[in-house]
Amino acid sequence: MILENSSEWLGPNFVEIYLDAIGNNLKELQKRTTASICPILKGDAYGHGLEIIALYLESQGIRYLGVGDLQEALSLRKVGVKCPILVLCPPFPYQVHSFVRERLTATITDLNIAKLLAREAEKQGKKANVHLKIDSGLGRIGVLPENTISLFKEIVSLKDLVVEGVYTHFASATNNLVFTRTQLDTFLQLKKELERISRDKLIFHCANSAAFIRFSQSHQNMEMARIGTLLFGQSPVKIPRDLKLEQTWKLYSRIVEVKRLPKGSSIGYGRTFITKRDSLIGVIPIGYSDGLGVIPTRENHWQHLKSSLKELMFSSKTVKIDKSLLPIVGKIAMGMCCIDLTNYQLKENVFNLVGNKVELSAKRVLTNPRIPRVYYLNGNIKTIWRNKQAFLPLLKENEVFLQEISARTVKNTVYY
Ligand SMILES: Cc1ncc(COP(=O)(O)O)c(C=O)c1O
Repeated sequence: MILENSSEWLGPNFVEIYLDAIGNNLKELQKRTTASICPILKGDAYGHGLEIIALYLESQGIRYLGVGDLQEALSLRKVGVKCPILVLCPPFPYQVHSFVRERLTATITDLNIAKLLAREAEKQGKKANVHLKIDSGLGRIGVLPENTISLFKEIVSLKDLVVEGVYTHFASATNNLVFTRTQLDTFLQLKKELERISRDKLIFHCANSAAFIRFSQSHQNMEMARIGTLLFGQSPVKIPRDLKLEQTWKLYSRIVEVKRLPKGSSIGYGRTFITKRDSLIGVIPIGYSDGLGVIPTRENHWQHLKSSLKELMFSSKTVKIDKSLLPIVGKIAMGMCCIDLTNYQLKENVFNLVGNKVELSAKRVLTNPRIPRVYYLNGNIKTIWRNKQAFLPLLKENEVFLQEISARTVKNTVYY
């Protein structure tokens, strides 16, 4: 790994992302359905870095992408992503200009915004593409089932507005199969009626990762399936044995200091951890501002209490050096935390551990985007993305430099 010894540019913390693994996962999923996989890249592509992932997926032939909001969609157009982009959050009135100008597909749930889009499209001499979103039970964004047909009839009659698709989203496909079945039946019933009254062929879609695995009907007779979690190698439900997903993401830091502390020493803010033996402690410069140890709110107080207790009892926070699992000790601070190296079998002088790579686990979408993303393809570093800039590693007299490349040219430079 050529960057191993020259990490000044990289900082101590970085995320490795394996593009081939994402490509493999896409193929594995696509093999299982006639629906076109529409990668969902909200949350900075689930923490993988929106722009490079979109460019890579486009090079792999995907036909549609989904993002969370207008800002994400604009970032993609800025780096040259050409494919249709479905924006999951409906437009605000002041955003319709950008939607039309950048050929973004808007989510529509209401007539007024549809009229604004149609008017803007006429003004710009273009067409506004929209997908109608039905709220079949999530209770979030969407037109209610009983109002769907009348809204559809009104929006298809708007000049310069193209109703290209219709979709819904499941509330509980991971754990409530009965409710998911009811949502699916509602959607299938509306699909039948809409197909009967629509002059054009519509793109229907409803599957997310859990539904994709549990309900083949959520994608087999649909045009599209909106997939995030599975594409990035994780699954919210048990996956079939023959679905071979690969790991796409690893977070690393480096040990910045190693010290011996006697039994009874306290570690970190609040002195919450006291060493029970003479210990070897390593410090890593990563903390909660980077996303480490940040856990999203649990569904209810009981679950929250359960996970807090579990954490207290089993200290679930661990790091990996080579194959050894080592605990994080003391409180994780904003940009620092400590690990207990005492059990780590040393082949060398302990102080040689300074600079060593440490693998950490963190919620990927909460991992700070300021941490550089290093992209690998076929075992080689293909590009590095940091602060919305793209770089290539350049080897010169045994030193590694970063060569800045334009985000717009990254596609041609990197994947072909
Ligand atoms: C509307 C919508 N569709 C699809 C997805 C993808 O879900 P998953 O990550 O379960 O595949 C999301 C993710 O939150 C979403 O909000």
